[in-house]
Amino acid sequence: MNQRMRKPYESMRRHFQQAAQERGFTLAPAQEHAAERLSRLAGELTAPTGLFRRAPAPPRNVYVWGPVGRGKSWLVDTFFDGLPITRKRRLHFHDFFRALHDGVAREGRSHDGGRSAVDRAVDELLGDCRLLVFDEFHAHDAGDAMLVARLVRTLLDRRVTLVTTSDYPPTGLMPNPVHHHLFEPTIHLIEERMDVLVVTGPTDYPRARQDGGSRRFAEGACLTDEDTALLDEWGLSAPRPGEAALVPAYHRELPAKAVRADLVWLGFDELCEGATAVPDYLALAERFDTLVLDGVRPLASCTADGCRRFANLVDVCCGRDLRLFLLGADPLAGLPEGSDLMRDLDRTASRLAMLRRVDVAR
Ligand SMILES: Nc1ncnc2c1ncn2[C@@H]1O[C@H](COP(=O)(O)OP(=O)(O)OP(=O)(O)O)[C@@H](O)[C@H]1O
Ligand SMILES: [Mg+2]
Repeated sequence: MNQRMRKPYESMRRHFQQAAQERGFTLAPAQEHAAERLSRLAGELTAPTGLFRRAPAPPRNVYVWGPVGRGKSWLVDTFFDGLPITRKRRLHFHDFFRALHDGVAREGRSHDGGRSAVDRAVDELLGDCRLLVFDEFHAHDAGDAMLVARLVRTLLDRRVTLVTTSDYPPTGLMPNPVHHHLFEPTIHLIEERMDVLVVTGPTDYPRARQDGGSRRFAEGACLTDEDTALLDEWGLSAPRPGEAALVPAYHRELPAKAVRADLVWLGFDELCEGATAVPDYLALAERFDTLVLDGVRPLASCTADGCRRFANLVDVCCGRDLRLFLLGADPLAGLPEGSDLMRDLDRTASRLAMLRRVDVAR
């Protein structure tokens, strides 16, 4: 490492140590390794360049993946917060993808001087930033596969360094065997142009923690029908018939049971078994602080789409620090052990563990 990089590198190493210390964390070896790699990246991104030197090529991209709850987001958030540059952006993949969809829809699919709508939408989203952090990168939906593939190519060709977290190794992206081969060129590109780091270890931190503290989900609980008397404690009361209203979501309206200032109360079947999608949940999360979902059913009894929608909803609420209250059955009850469904819902289980704890702590 050259001298110019050493100072910012060491300063980021200290920043990681302090951040861990403040939270009382002992970093797992894989987290230490990732913190080391990200500190080197900080050195590369912030080393002063000589006055007359040409701007150096952007540093290599980093892809951090590992099982749920291993502290991947904490690592890249800590790195982002400690990086002393202003030309940086951090986005949740869901938000970025929605904004990209919007941009592409606005721009149309026409080519302008050889530049596609995706290029122009990415220009608009990135501005002149030198670092883009993408939390929770994934590719599940076959309908989105081509757009994600375009996006990855466009981003990797830019003078921007990309840092992503994912629950999937590059080879595990687009897991559906029917569509996986369509995504293989993108997987090769990721493997070629990004340093892939595995952050794993025996502990799923959200599930292991007993203190209930988390920067995610401002508050919340899973309550059975018998427990709903507890709602009072959170200042919630069951919807009255006159409170039913349509609530604006993404280019559509959803039937809510109640809409009160910062709170929206919805039914599980209307939301998760209706034709809704992530942009709808993002729209709700932007407008409301509290989401109550009643009539929750065990996911084992839901359609595959219903399960995916519920998992996405939980992701959005968790990522946006919402208060989330789930009323009804335990969504994870009766899932066949070791099934594909159980594996897909692993991250949801990790997140719901945070809600449960709030429940237990009370
Ligand atoms: N070494 C650690 N010890 C204790 N808690 C930790 C440690 N690292 C991270 N955490 C905490 O564990 C929780 C989960 O971490 P984080 O969200 O970063 O995991 P993740 O790997 O991104 O999970 P997911 O795959 O669900 O997105 C957070 O509250 C975080 O602050
Ligand atoms: Mg994460």
